[in-house]
Amino acid sequence: MAFTRITAAEAAALIKNGDNIGLSGFTPAGTPKATTAEIAKIAHAEHEAGRPYQIGIFTGASTGMSCDGVLAEEKAIRYRAPYTTNAVFRGKVNAGEIAYNDIHLSQMAQELRYGFLGEVDWAILEVCAIEDDGKVYLTAAGGIAPTVARLAKKGIILELNSFHSPKSIGIHDVYEPKDPPMREPILISKVTDRIGTPYLQIDPNKVVGVVECNIPDEARAFKDADPVTDKIGENVANFLMGEHKKGIIPPGFLPFQSGVGTTANAILGALGSNPDMPAFEVYTEVLQNAIVDLMYKERVKCASTCSLTVTNDVLTDMYNNMDFFRDKLVLRQSEISNSPEVIRRLGVIAINTAIECDLYGHANSTQICGTKMMNGIGGSGDFERNAFLSIFTCSSVAKGGCISSIVPFCSHIDHTEHDVNIIVTEQGVADLRGKSPIQRAHAIIENCAHPDYKQLLWDYLKISQKGQSWHNLGAALSLHEAFIKEGDMRKVDFSKFA
Ligand code: COA
Repeated sequence: MAFTRITAAEAAALIKNGDNIGLSGFTPAGTPKATTAEIAKIAHAEHEAGRPYQIGIFTGASTGMSCDGVLAEEKAIRYRAPYTTNAVFRGKVNAGEIAYNDIHLSQMAQELRYGFLGEVDWAILEVCAIEDDGKVYLTAAGGIAPTVARLAKKGIILELNSFHSPKSIGIHDVYEPKDPPMREPILISKVTDRIGTPYLQIDPNKVVGVVECNIPDEARAFKDADPVTDKIGENVANFLMGEHKKGIIPPGFLPFQSGVGTTANAILGALGSNPDMPAFEVYTEVLQNAIVDLMYKERVKCASTCSLTVTNDVLTDMYNNMDFFRDKLVLRQSEISNSPEVIRRLGVIAINTAIECDLYGHANSTQICGTKMMNGIGGSGDFERNAFLSIFTCSSVAKGGCISSIVPFCSHIDHTEHDVNIIVTEQGVADLRGKSPIQRAHAIIENCAHPDYKQLLWDYLKISQKGQSWHNLGAALSLHEAFIKEGDMRKVDFSKFA
């Protein structure tokens, strides 16, 4: 079957006010870009004409400016799940203009299948090759593409983006689990095990058109590592080497997952350059520049990921060197890259960045001062809850020292004390394993808090009521309040709570 070629504007015109679109991709990697940019223009024109126009968007993870960015700018997003990093979108969410559902990334596809999130009207998939029988080849990410393609009730739009080279064919392992009670074990017991197909089989009769384009991916470059992120990386590496020497981590090491952002990128770099660290494996959801570099240096043996969230120069270079990567790299759907079953079986060591951690080991990954969304939980919960070792890192202070990232009580909790083993800042490492809450509090203040805040945190314990966890409920969020009212947590005054 030869598929009809349509323009991005024609594709966008199919999508009506109130529709839900499901996109391929995971992070800006592999996300369609041409049609969503045109949808934003339609939204603009409709709003100018005084007509309503808003859509729901389902994705694997975040997208880039040409989706969340322009659509948020045009007030075209009614509902969005599960993760975003776009600053314009963040502003609208925090202004209460978008219904944003921040869920674990491993759950997105199945919640769509279960019918929890409403219907998928359209699937828009970015592909690098199409066969007449409906076999399509995804680009830089696995995401939730099979699910949205199968569920889309009005049709499928294919964006054939020639920026992505068909040389990458074979890198994907496309697999969609069945739903309970028919769900079967996910038979991955090694990082590079394959359980699916290199292509996604879609129903050719559902394809309404193919949009040809050549648009680069929109992955962000990270800030350079700095002395703080370097020190965090060194602390993580030294801690892990110690566990390795003790025999807690097996001789061949265990696979790593490392989260998104500047800190995570720097930590991986530090791990890879530690001469005592053996070459290791990666089982993650987002492969960033640092891992590619380590693969070339043979410090990373192989990697399984959901997306290649690398800068465009690195992506182009990878496409040109596919022979090197073919037996070392697998791209999976997010419900497989982030599968609790697989993460626990492989014994993944998870390292994610928190916004803040509290004295008892709860971690906040998502909301500043308990109310303002940053990005979302992403895959951090999927990995940390199920990891062999659950590590959270953060700089001990933020905003020039006016914020302590170690607080008496988190202003929002994404990861509970039950899911966090180790907290690492540039100050040191708090090992929370086997400790009672108050023992954890001591370890965290002693090893992780910034010197400017240590005494304040000890003082908090002094005014707290003893119990399983020691708290002074009135003062528990008083550091946050001091920051909101006076711009500096150090200005907290405990005397009124004593
Ligand atoms: N209170 C207020 N703001 C804080 C803060 C705190 N305790 N800690 C950090 N910040 C601010 C920083 O100042 C910075 O602000 P800026 O953008 O205005 O400069 C911003 O948060 C990002 O911090 P940065 O130190 O640059 O960290 P990062 O790039 O490593 O990102 C997270 C950190 C937590 C935002 C990021 O890792 C994230 O979104 N995590 C959740 C998703 C996840 O973990 N996914 C993992 C699976 S891939």
